[in-house]
Amino acid sequence: MDPELFEAAKAVRDQAYAPFSGYKVGAALRSTSGRIFVGCNVENLSYGLTVCAERNAIGAMVAAGDREFTEIVVVTDDIGSPCGMCRQVLAEFSPGLKATVNLASDEGEHTSIPLANLLPYPFKSDKVHRSK
Ligand code: THU
Repeated sequence: MDPELFEAAKAVRDQAYAPFSGYKVGAALRSTSGRIFVGCNVENLSYGLTVCAERNAIGAMVAAGDREFTEIVVVTDDIGSPCGMCRQVLAEFSPGLKATVNLASDEGEHTSIPLANLLPYPFKSDKVHRSK
């Protein structure tokens, strides 16, 4: 697990807006340009509008002009794993599902899993277009 990504995920987790679940999540990913992008979960009173940390990190990367990442660190209290929706969104920006997903606790305990193992049968289409 990239220690810089871990520190970034841990730091952004403090910004999580999770008054309803109390479950704070921080995510940090490295794009192929070498930059780091972060996201935290942002909940909403209309619960279904909640956006997970992983998807907010992907949004930050895309907004900055990158469309591929190689590694992500997700920090939670209990080494939680990305939800199904986030797995599919991560897959969109990881050609061949090659990215490494690190599930970590605040203390740095972690497990590293290839995205291909988290999402063995992604929804696929040749319409996916990452080049600009
Ligand atoms: N959450 C994430 O941020 N990422 C996930 O992959 C799983 C769930 C958030 C959503 C909600 O704010 C809280 O965790 C509890 O479900």
